[in-house]
Amino acid sequence: MTKWVVGNWKMHGGAAMAGELVRAVAAAAAQSRAEVVVCPPYVLLSHVAQLVSGSAVKLGAQDCHPQAEGAHTGDVSAPMLKEAGCRYVIVGHSERRSAYGESDGLVRHKAAIAQSEGLTPIICVGETLAQREQGVAEALVGQQVRDSIPEGKGNFLLAYEPVWAIGSGKTPTVDDIEQMHRHIVSVASERTGRAPEAMAVLYGGSVKAANAASIMAAAAVSGVLVGGASLKADEFCGIIAAA
Ligand code: PGA
Repeated sequence: MTKWVVGNWKMHGGAAMAGELVRAVAAAAAQSRAEVVVCPPYVLLSHVAQLVSGSAVKLGAQDCHPQAEGAHTGDVSAPMLKEAGCRYVIVGHSERRSAYGESDGLVRHKAAIAQSEGLTPIICVGETLAQREQGVAEALVGQQVRDSIPEGKGNFLLAYEPVWAIGSGKTPTVDDIEQMHRHIVSVASERTGRAPEAMAVLYGGSVKAANAASIMAAAAVSGVLVGGASLKADEFCGIIAAA
């Protein structure tokens, strides 16, 4: 079974940093069977596309607009990402859901247009700390999964990212991760009519080299979506080695 290691650089990095980081990541990816993906900011996509060319590393973007083109100042479309060399695009990251009020419906449209361009959307879901403490995490995440997956037969990955674990150094226990991933697989399988084995759910939130192996050893974890640690070559390469 494929394991994914996806690095989300968020709003970090420049051309010089990308050169050094991608060289190290490409060397680690060459030693690994994992599907390794880096998601730099938009303005670095073409540069990083050249850096990863000929290597095992794939390119992804951090977001896209739900339409193919139009008068949308400041936005970037899925066809543009495709042309820049992307294979993947993250949609519905909690930072976009909270900072820009992105709804499940919007996320579903973004995922759908990505699919129609032949990109694989990485659809992010996850509960806040308050929701976990209220005992509604499974219900909430299940609803996000149901409402964020597009109709049709297109490929997608899901990423479970508890909001309280992102950038905080805190992670759920491996048992909690496994339980939520099983729930997500079952909801996604029911929603799409596809076999549970066809559903891949990545975990994200404070993944680092030291905890990656134990998280990825969980049966329902198909890989990891990494923020902060994806900017440090030794950390990200350690995660790739653990996959
Ligand atoms: P983090 O971010 O690894 O820095 O916690 C994860 C994410 O937001 O995808």
